[in-house]
Amino acid sequence: MLLLNATLATMSPEQPFGLIPQGAIAIRDGHILWCGPEAELPEEHRHAEQHDLGGRLVTPALIDCHTHIVHGGNRAREFEMRLEGASYEQIAGAGGGIVSTVKATREATEDALLEGALRRVDALLAEGVSVIEIKSGYGLDLETECNMLRAARRIERERPVRIRTSFLGAHAVPADYKGRADAYIDDVCLPALNAAHAEGLVDAVDGFCEGIAFNTMQIGRVFDRAKSLGLPVKLHAEQLSHTGGTTLAAKYGALSADHVEYADISDALALSEAGTVAVLLPGAFYTLRETQLPPVQAFRDQNVPMALATDCNPGSSPLTSLLLTINMGCTLFRLTPEEALAGVTRHAARALGLADCGIIRAGLRADLAIWDVDHPAELAYRIGFNPLHLSIFAGVIKERHV
Ligand code: NIG
Ligand code: FE
Repeated sequence: MLLLNATLATMSPEQPFGLIPQGAIAIRDGHILWCGPEAELPEEHRHAEQHDLGGRLVTPALIDCHTHIVHGGNRAREFEMRLEGASYEQIAGAGGGIVSTVKATREATEDALLEGALRRVDALLAEGVSVIEIKSGYGLDLETECNMLRAARRIERERPVRIRTSFLGAHAVPADYKGRADAYIDDVCLPALNAAHAEGLVDAVDGFCEGIAFNTMQIGRVFDRAKSLGLPVKLHAEQLSHTGGTTLAAKYGALSADHVEYADISDALALSEAGTVAVLLPGAFYTLRETQLPPVQAFRDQNVPMALATDCNPGSSPLTSLLLTINMGCTLFRLTPEEALAGVTRHAARALGLADCGIIRAGLRADLAIWDVDHPAELAYRIGFNPLHLSIFAGVIKERHV
């Protein structure tokens, strides 16, 4: 297949947006064979099936590198409670929050978890998303943690999308282990990780390092197990307070440290040295009406790659739009549109340990999004508008929008 007459935002870091005006892309066997200015297209690629894109913008397909999209129930009642003045931590302390989604998730069958997730996955796919990371963490028992991950894996068989799973057994302390977090790690979390890994359900291991969840010692024990199983780690760190999670994540060479609103300059330095991505989640910042901004300038100064993700979950970020996430990243966190777009392409791929996507480059996967816009900054600027024209997944045109 040959795509012609397109503006390419390759997202390759050498120039802003990796822009190539009047570009072309040759695709074969699901991969990019060649891309560059149309005038330089080698003769041998000219004979492929041609698609004139009418000057439209092509970007790498988008990547949502942090979601809890598989879950039971919803927390609309807690949304009302927060509007009445209760805080996220107060609701969690009163048996609501993550633990209430755990109840709903345990009650759901694997099929029901899949059905519910597909509705939300479809919303992401309609915006040109090709990779979604999905965490467990609403089971907090071996059976339900595995059920969530099985449902996540099945999404790949139902839709044209790649799924990366993260085991998040250390997400919250379940009611029957209240005050006994260490015992929960030993009795439930580590055995569930072993079982899920043995079944091939785990691509990475995540945790929630926070006053209302687990401390750095407990997370360290989970990470030690991950390392011994050969699995990469990532961490919810410094979301509500500064507890040292970011430095811990860096110490373990984590793929990413996520949220990081309360991270400081020395955390930025640690991430930089470890090559760990800072994943910013403006949907949770917005929903919780957080006022502590992530240290974006320190990340810039230290060359810490910044990714952006929806954090799609029923409590702190009931968000299923990566385009809105980009807009929020710019408006709330003052990212530039270029940083924001890199955050859902190149840097999001890196946050998942994927080296075969996130940039338009010869040899990488032909996962592309084609937009009815002139310039990539337009993707960040509009609110609640979807200019996707069509998307290409593994070299195949997958949807057409009227
Ligand atoms: O990323 N921070 C912890 N985990 C989720 C919240 C999950 C929930 O509230 O259900 C997050 O914000
Ligand atoms: Fe999260």
